[in-house]
Amino acid sequence: MGSRRTAALVPLFCAGLAAADLLVPPLGLDQFIPAPEDNRITAGRARLGRRLFFDKRLSRDGTVACATCHDPNHGFADAKPLAIGIAGRKGTRRTPTILNRAYGKSFFWDGRTATLEEQVTMPIENPDEMDLKLDDALARIRGSYPAIDRAELARSLATYVRTILAGGAPYDRYARGQRDAMTPEQIAGLKLFRGKAGCTGCHVGPNFTDERFHNTGLPGKDKGRDGRGEFKTPTLREAANRAPYMHDGSLATLEDVIEHYDKGGEANAHLDPEMRKLNLTAQEKRHLLAFLKALSGTVREGLESTSTP
Ligand code: HEC
Ligand code: HEC
Repeated sequence: MGSRRTAALVPLFCAGLAAADLLVPPLGLDQFIPAPEDNRITAGRARLGRRLFFDKRLSRDGTVACATCHDPNHGFADAKPLAIGIAGRKGTRRTPTILNRAYGKSFFWDGRTATLEEQVTMPIENPDEMDLKLDDALARIRGSYPAIDRAELARSLATYVRTILAGGAPYDRYARGQRDAMTPEQIAGLKLFRGKAGCTGCHVGPNFTDERFHNTGLPGKDKGRDGRGEFKTPTLREAANRAPYMHDGSLATLEDVIEHYDKGGEANAHLDPEMRKLNLTAQEKRHLLAFLKALSGTVREGLESTSTP
């Protein structure tokens, strides 16, 4: 546990050092974690944000925390096809994973907010999620967290979200040159991912997303971004550990996702030009699945490592 040791030693001689210096992203990710000028990552904010993230008092009836839906044991998403807030209220979309959102360019499935600071307090007031006015939330928690106001609430939650990082997967070790880090099936799957199956048309870069919006031909009434049925490309990291999939939770397994792409999605006026019939063989589907599993590795949150299977 090298990271634990560093975390214990460093504050002794450099208390007040920016937490970014303690926060080393797992292998495969960009080592620079972007954060706005007025919300640099500090250890204090990361810790406060973590406590808030797990605090159920931020919901009207005290039953739901951010972590209820963004469950650390489920890849920071949950197992429900559609999000469920206080009193069993059903939302219209599935809880997305918030892994690696530090590198995000816009937030929500349709990208309707531009910064994490803007995004993180919205679930508190959303009637289908936590349903509590921010001022009421602040009044409740002021006793436990000194000097907190709206801006600090947003900054701390955003900082904690920036520390939730996934990398260090067999794929990353393979990409670094360790040829036996992936099985022959996974290597064959990677070739398909980049080639015949065309997945890198959208799932590109260290976080396997172009951060753009596409219509992948899922049936359903949700019109997504600009009414065109487009949704943001999600990361594929830890995908094997956080079923179900897609903005509407309509695909239960990774096998179902691969079938969806093999068929090229449902034809519609806004279907992305990258979507087409793939004609994958049964063996190719197995290889693609094996590769997707090679994208699970280390998940870190806060300033400590939580799991390395
Ligand atoms: C009831 C379940 C639920 C709760 C509670 C909840 N969220 Fe979410 N979260 C969602 C859903 C659903 C979305 C996507 C909504 C959409 O796209 O319209 C989302 C989106 C997000 C995103 C954007 C992710 C991205 O990739 O664009 C972030 C960040 C986030 N939530 C953080 C939080 C924080 C912080 C809290 C606590 C203050 C919280 N959430 C509470 C369900 C929940
Ligand atoms: C045209 C762009 C595009 C291509 C090509 C593409 N994807 Fe996607 N992928 C997306 C978008 C956008 C979503 C979210 C769609 C939604 O929810 O409406 C998604 C969702 C997924 C998900 C679910 C992730 C989650 O968190 O719900 C998986 C798994 C996935 N894609 C794997 C693949 C694989 C494997 C391929 C290649 C066979 C592929 N994708 C090709 C854009 C693309």
